[in-house]
Amino acid sequence: MSAPLNCDEYEQLAEALTEPGPWAYLAGGAAGESTLRANTAAFRRWTFRPRVLVDVDAVTTETTVLGTTLSLPVLLAPIAFQGLYHADGELATARAAAAEQTVMCVSTMTTRSHHEIADAAPGVAQWAQLYVLNDDGATRAHLDEAVAAGCSAIVLTVDAPVLGRRERDLRVGFAVPADLPVPYGAAALGRVPHSPATHIGLFSPSVTWRDIEWIAATTKLPILLKGVLTGEDAELAVEHGAAGIIVSNHGGRQLDGAPATLDVLAEVAEAAAGRVEVLFDGGIRRGGDVVKALALGAGAVLVGRPAIWGLAADGEAGVRHVLSLLRDEIALTLALLGCSRPEDVGRAHVQPAVPYDRPA
Ligand SMILES: Cc1cc2nc3c(=O)[nH]c(=O)nc-3n(C[C@H](O)[C@H](O)[C@H](O)COP(=O)(O)O)c2cc1C
Repeated sequence: MSAPLNCDEYEQLAEALTEPGPWAYLAGGAAGESTLRANTAAFRRWTFRPRVLVDVDAVTTETTVLGTTLSLPVLLAPIAFQGLYHADGELATARAAAAEQTVMCVSTMTTRSHHEIADAAPGVAQWAQLYVLNDDGATRAHLDEAVAAGCSAIVLTVDAPVLGRRERDLRVGFAVPADLPVPYGAAALGRVPHSPATHIGLFSPSVTWRDIEWIAATTKLPILLKGVLTGEDAELAVEHGAAGIIVSNHGGRQLDGAPATLDVLAEVAEAAAGRVEVLFDGGIRRGGDVVKALALGAGAVLVGRPAIWGLAADGEAGVRHVLSLLRDEIALTLALLGCSRPEDVGRAHVQPAVPYDRPA
């Protein structure tokens, strides 16, 4: 295949280059995968309301999230076990994030430590994604290391008190290879979790709103809650001092039957009412999808699988190319919409798609 022209072509390339087990883990969702499918389908149910005769000679995709300037309103979502997809794993992703000037969220289940990432990608903006493990000491050690390595925010994932059942993994018998390092996850069990299914005993199912306090006190870093899907929980997030919310259903990998994230974004953004940062993920495959999320209330979005398709296809260069394709698509969409910058996009720039009658 010639150089991919969009994220979907990266998906095809990545699938051809990836072993069936890791591919099942990357591509799959929970149970019947209805939420996984809903995430991408939801973008097709909105169309743009472009404004014309606006001077768009100087379009920028630059934006600021929690005080960090990004070259595009797209951050890299936390994705576990990136060493499965490229020998350099998280190091390649981090170098791409630094080069393209965006934030990398580093999973608790990273195969490289925060220090290794900071050394390999000087200046990269790292946010540490936190799973509270069943072992308090291991969680605290992880947080201490994240702070020491220069992470500038904590992303507390709140939609995984127990793990969704990923049937594709079971179908192909996927297990995390025994020799894959898992510096923060392994410490909790004293062994490498060989199968995602064993994470069930690894994460604490008893994390509540009260835990936000000690995490904030331990790290002194802003905390974003990843996995909020209702206005009620957005209100509680504000009350408990969160700096941000990430509207996410974990890429359809947790509660099957949860709504497409795009369908609840406006509800969450309205409840947050500008008091905290509202970010979004799930199903972003095009710059146009990013702009629709901005219109419905997101300050910026995260991409999960598309970045890993780039990683699997061509390491650092692949992740960089995925980000630059999205940046170009965002710039083009902004210009054709009559907007000069991400902050110009508002609710008036989208409308529900008009349902059409299928031919009989
Ligand atoms: C293979 C894989 C591993 C993931 N690992 C984590 C993780 O360790 N922590 C987390 O908070 N979310 C994790 N997620 C969820 C992503 O951060 C993100 O919410 C989701 O992928 C966004 O949807 P998208 O892939 O359609 O962009 C993972 C997703 C995938 C596909």
